[in-house]
Amino acid sequence: MRMFRKATGLFCLVNSRGWKPPFIAPLRSPVLDSPFPTRGFAVMLTEDLQQRSARTIMNTYARLPISLVRGKGCKVYDAEDREYLDFVAGIAVNALGHGHPDLVTAIERQARHLLHTSNLYYSEPQVLFAERLVAHSFADKVFFCNSGAEANEAAIKLARKYSFDKYGPDRHEIITMNNSFHGRTLATLTATGQAKVQQGFAPLPQGFKYADFNDVASIERQMDQRTAAVMLEPIQGEGGVVVAEGAFLEQLHALCRDRDVLLIFDEVQTGVGRTGTLFAYEQYNVRPDIMTLAKGLGGGLPIGACLATDDVAQAFGPGSHASTFGGNPLACAGALATLNALLDDRLLERSRAAGAYLHKGLQTLQNRFSVVTAVRGLGLLQGMELSIDGQSIVQDCLARRMLINCTMGNVLRFVPPLIVTNEEIDRLLDVLSGVLTKRLESLPHS
Ligand SMILES: Cc1ncc(COP(=O)(O)O)c(C=O)c1O
Repeated sequence: MRMFRKATGLFCLVNSRGWKPPFIAPLRSPVLDSPFPTRGFAVMLTEDLQQRSARTIMNTYARLPISLVRGKGCKVYDAEDREYLDFVAGIAVNALGHGHPDLVTAIERQARHLLHTSNLYYSEPQVLFAERLVAHSFADKVFFCNSGAEANEAAIKLARKYSFDKYGPDRHEIITMNNSFHGRTLATLTATGQAKVQQGFAPLPQGFKYADFNDVASIERQMDQRTAAVMLEPIQGEGGVVVAEGAFLEQLHALCRDRDVLLIFDEVQTGVGRTGTLFAYEQYNVRPDIMTLAKGLGGGLPIGACLATDDVAQAFGPGSHASTFGGNPLACAGALATLNALLDDRLLERSRAAGAYLHKGLQTLQNRFSVVTAVRGLGLLQGMELSIDGQSIVQDCLARRMLINCTMGNVLRFVPPLIVTNEEIDRLLDVLSGVLTKRLESLPHS
C-alpha cells in the first residue's frame, strides 16, 4: 500500500487493486471540553475549517470567518467558544431559536422510530403536518419537498399544468417581479428578476416575464392570452426587504381573478410567523391560489411545501411531480413540532410585538444617523437601508459578536428567531449605534 498527497492536500492510500480509501489527516485542533452538545466530538478550529473547506467544497458562498458549533435560544457559539447574538437565524430559518426542547424531542423520538420511507407508502407525520398546515391556511392540499427553490418549482409546474388542462399549451407564461428572488434551480433563477442571478446560465427556460413590484399597471402591461400566473413575494426579502403595498396586492388579486390568472405567493421567507401572522397574506385582503413555504417551516430541518386550493391542486395526478425525500417523516415530525410551538406558545404575538419594538428602535437609529435612509419590514423581517456599503457593517457587528445580514449590498436585514426578547433587541440596537457612530467618525464631513 502506498500513500500519496492529492492536489487537494488530502492524503490518499492506494492498494495493489487500485482501491483508494479516503484518508483525512488527523485534526490539528483540540477537542474542546465543553458541557454542551458538541462534547465528545472533535471540534475543528475555524482556521482549520477554512483551509480544509477551500480544498474540498465548491466555492459558491462568501462566508464570514467563523464556524458555529452550538446554540441555545437566540445565542450561538463558535468553535473558539465565543458567544454571538443571532439576528440571522440561519437566514430566517430557526423560528424557535436554537435547541428548542419541543423540536429536539420530536426529532429524537422520530429518529428512534423511522427516519425515511419514501412516498411509496403512507406516513403519519406527513399527514398530521399537512392537516395542521391546511387547517391554518387558505389551502386545501399540500405537496412536500425539501427547499424553497423546490417549492417554487412545484408551484411553477402546478400553475402550468392547471393552465394546460384548462386552456391548452399556449397559456403557460408566468409573470414575476423585478428584484424578486425565487431560488437557484434553472426555473427558479429564471423566475428571479435579477440579472446577476441568471448571468452565465443561459439558455434559460422559456415562459417568464418580468414586471415591477408594487406597480399593478406594469403587471397588466405584461399580461396577455399566454399568461398562466403571477408569482411574487409579499415582502421581497433578498431584494432589499421591500414590503408589498395593500392596495397593490388587492388590485393584483382582482386583476388575476378577472383574467382567471393564478396568483402565486412565494412565502418561503415571509411564512411561518416571520411577519407576525402565520402567513404574510393574512395581513392583506387577499388569498393566493398557490403558496410556497420553506425556511422556517422545519425550524431548522430542511423541508419545503407548495400549498394550493383544491381546484388548482387537482391538476397534479400520480406521476405529475415527486420528491424522494419530500415530506420525510423526520422533517415532518420536526415541522409539526415547530408549527405546534408557534401556534400554541403564542409566538405569533411575540413576533408581532418584538417586530414592532425592533422597527421602532431602527427608526430611532434612522433619526440619529444620516446614513440610514429607510427602515422597512413587517414583524421580524426588518430591513435598514444605508447610503453606505452594508457588508462592512455586517463585519463590524460580527466583531462585536452580533450576527446580522445584508441584502442588495446596502440593506441590513434582521430576521432573528421569533422568541427574541426586547433585551436582545436592545443589545442589537446598542451594537448598531456603536458601529454606525464609529463609521461616521471615519467618514469625511461627518
Ligand atoms: C422568497 C424566497 N424564495 C425562495 C428561496 C429559495 O429557497 P432555498 O434556498 O431554500 O432554495 C428563498 C431563499 O432565500 C427566498 O427568500
